[in-house]
Amino acid sequence: MKPVPPAKQQALVARLTKACGGGYSPKQRRKYFLTGPQWAAAYEGHALFHAPTRRPVGYEEVIREYGKIGIGYWATHDTDVIATPDLGTARQDETVAGIKKALKKHGLQCSMVTTETFHHAVFAASPAAEAPEVREYSKWRLTNTVRIGHELGAQFAVYWPGSLGYQVQGAVEETNTLRWYAEGLNAACEADIAIARENGRPTLKHCLEAKPFEPAAQILLPSSDAMLAFIFSGLLKHPDMVGLNPEYLHELMWGAAVRAALARALLCNKLFHFDINDGYPLKHDVDIGVGLVNPLDWLNVLVMLRTHAYNGPFNLDYKPPRTTSNQGVFSVSFPTTVDRFITLWEMAGEVSSDAVISQAYEALRAGGGGDPRDAASLAEANRELLTLHELIAHRLFQILVGAHKGRIYSV
Ligand code: GLC
Ligand code: MN
Ligand code: MN
Repeated sequence: MKPVPPAKQQALVARLTKACGGGYSPKQRRKYFLTGPQWAAAYEGHALFHAPTRRPVGYEEVIREYGKIGIGYWATHDTDVIATPDLGTARQDETVAGIKKALKKHGLQCSMVTTETFHHAVFAASPAAEAPEVREYSKWRLTNTVRIGHELGAQFAVYWPGSLGYQVQGAVEETNTLRWYAEGLNAACEADIAIARENGRPTLKHCLEAKPFEPAAQILLPSSDAMLAFIFSGLLKHPDMVGLNPEYLHELMWGAAVRAALARALLCNKLFHFDINDGYPLKHDVDIGVGLVNPLDWLNVLVMLRTHAYNGPFNLDYKPPRTTSNQGVFSVSFPTTVDRFITLWEMAGEVSSDAVISQAYEALRAGGGGDPRDAASLAEANRELLTLHELIAHRLFQILVGAHKGRIYSV
């Protein structure tokens, strides 16, 4: 085949994207509580070992393109849109006004705001550093974000303490650091209560997001479970206002069964928000689009969330690969990610109403009888019934590949 000249490449990608078919309309996509982060669309493909492959894009372009795709909600870090020195100044007000205008124009709402407490040099020793002035600054940053959130009409604030930890051992005292971190959250919640009252709005839902490694080498709150313990530790003044934003990949990274991690959050009524993406266990944070690595596991995760009537946001916290162009981010990456999510969500509905699966569950729950004081009799009574576990797994695979609707391969 002859080389494909650059001028013809977009058309080729567009033709093949169309040939894939199966896309949902923007109107259909807007029915789901899907949130698009500023940073995901604006990611330029850079990393420690990677130079950027895409040009920068601002919030106007991101909001406009999300609107066209049918992503109904937008989320941001403070410094994704306002440079650090401009925070709390008139330039912040100008930007917030500009964002409001863009959201309105393209029919989006702001769902969530988050404070960047990891990139700037001021956070080299974390937002809960030893120096009291740094901690004062962190409190100010968190409360400033809460204020921005209220101005933009957000319902959620997310906290990702990725720099809360250390590179070298013995340098920080963990209990102090965690107490100081709690003070920051307490300041954010108190400010929220006051600002919400001033504005006649409900308070935000404050959501902690864990990641087991990176950027700190050792992280003090590495998993959603660690965060649950922290929320219920007695250090928080308003534990009722604080919950979790688990990220699918962040749980998978440490080897968790994501469904089990979500189950523990659900049991505590702390599943407030969910970052959706994909990747591999025990690797770094590759943030791949949902469903490209573990579609079967994703199907199972969504079955669980549907079963428990989770109605919070699904935040598209992934990174379009650096092999995708600026054009591709909005013409291929976001729409296909959204469509895989919708497909898996609808499929999860089919699982819940599937006759084979529901009869199997029912039979398993009925049990096979037997004598509750006799292990051998119980094992015997349930022996054949328990084969249903494997049959359920097979049925899920059939649903995933469409075999339950008669899709077959002739051999
Ligand atoms: C960073 C993290 C991401 C997190 C976000 C929220 O971008 O990589 O996982 O959700 O911050 O603060
Ligand atoms: Mn995340
Ligand atoms: Mn991640």
